[in-house]
Amino acid sequence: MEKTWANHGVDLHLDLSRTRARAGLEAALRDAIRDGRLAAGTRLPPSRALAADLGVARNTVAEVYAQLVAEGWLGARTGSGTWVTGHAAPVTHSPAPAPAPRPLRYDLRPAAGDVSAFPRRPWLAAARKAWHAAPDRALDYPDPRGTPQLRAALAGYLARARGVTVTPDRVVTCCGFSHGLALLCRVLRERGAAVLAAEAYGHRAYWELARAQGLRVAPVPVDDAGLVPDRLDGAGAVLLTPAHQFPLGMTLAPARRRAVAAWAADGAGVLIEDDYDGEFRYDRQPVGAIQALAPERIVYAGTVSKSLAPGLRLGWVVLPGHLADDVVAAKAASGAAVSALDELALAELITSGGYDRQVRHARLAYRRRRDRLAATLARQAPQVALRGIAAGLHAVAELPPGLSEAAAVRRAAERGLALDGLSAYSAPGFARGPALVIGYGRPAEHGFTTALARLCATLAPPR
Ligand SMILES: Cc1ncc(COP(=O)(O)O)c(C=O)c1O
Repeated sequence: MEKTWANHGVDLHLDLSRTRARAGLEAALRDAIRDGRLAAGTRLPPSRALAADLGVARNTVAEVYAQLVAEGWLGARTGSGTWVTGHAAPVTHSPAPAPAPRPLRYDLRPAAGDVSAFPRRPWLAAARKAWHAAPDRALDYPDPRGTPQLRAALAGYLARARGVTVTPDRVVTCCGFSHGLALLCRVLRERGAAVLAAEAYGHRAYWELARAQGLRVAPVPVDDAGLVPDRLDGAGAVLLTPAHQFPLGMTLAPARRRAVAAWAADGAGVLIEDDYDGEFRYDRQPVGAIQALAPERIVYAGTVSKSLAPGLRLGWVVLPGHLADDVVAAKAASGAAVSALDELALAELITSGGYDRQVRHARLAYRRRRDRLAATLARQAPQVALRGIAAGLHAVAELPPGLSEAAAVRRAAERGLALDGLSAYSAPGFARGPALVIGYGRPAEHGFTTALARLCATLAPPR
């Protein structure tokens, strides 16, 4: 017998058995309180009214109320009626529920940087200024390549800061690198490419994006000098993080840079350069874009996900001439574009020098964190080897014998700390020794010390 009890200001769906109305009502009320459909403080209808609603004897309801009052689910006082208390006495002999998993308050996974450090004021000032200056047509459907202001600003910035060979007409904005990659894969597939070669360590999500566009992903080995370039046969394109391999952290060795650029220049396939954190180089001059070695065969891709915040969903691709029109058409067909407001704000931030200031500021802050991470681990967990720390917002921590990735991730979770193992970022069959990918850029500044302490407690050798 399904009933909706809707009188007395409370809507509640109850599923009662005809034969066992009392047990059914008792269980239904307990369930409704336990799962929050009846919140603490909710007044229940008088027993006479509920009995009439449900078509059961008044005594049945009165007995149920009395039982639930005795168990602590309900409260009752003469003259004040019956209400939900929201806390029940231990009721039955059923086993105690498993303790809720500890919330992961601290996060050292490498997905993003410190979003609490987003330059809100400079961003708002840039947005205000850009919008005052923008003509009405900036509010119309945008140019599918992106606003002219941002494409011009990016062309200047990328040539200056990253050594990219670029003019504004070769820049297309997209909703983050992921969107740009999906567009490229679609175009390459339509042109007959079947295989995307990708470093055997990277984001599985990007491999999935390529597969969704119909490409087969072929993992290519990576050694201490980066991707092994003589393993690209048969690929129509290769996806590469040459300035700072994600997640292992090495820079592609100069001879290999020349070799992959020559592979692309010879027309074997298109190279997609993912320059996701190129601004964050600590130990020497930034490594310039590989794109400049063969601009008509290499796609350069960038994003604000590390330098500002991934929530903006703002990235760009710099395209060889032979790909430009098709990628623009694919972008228009994808239906996705960056908001003109955000594009104009970023353009203003770049041209006013605010973006450079933010990058300099963030680089210093992340470098300090990297130094603290290295020094603290050296002191407290010397058996852990830290790799890939010359750049970026993450490092790889190689675990000592006897500590598996799964155990380290579990131990960290028990301390409220989220960590990722390296195997989450490797293609099947390419697992290295156990290691963690530590996104030291991620916590807010005030949480970094505690996150570090919990990491050390996780990794420190047993006493
Ligand atoms: C290797 C790599 N590429 C690209 C990106 C950026 O992707 P998106 O711009 O889609 O956020 C990230 C994450 O920030 C990354 O780790």
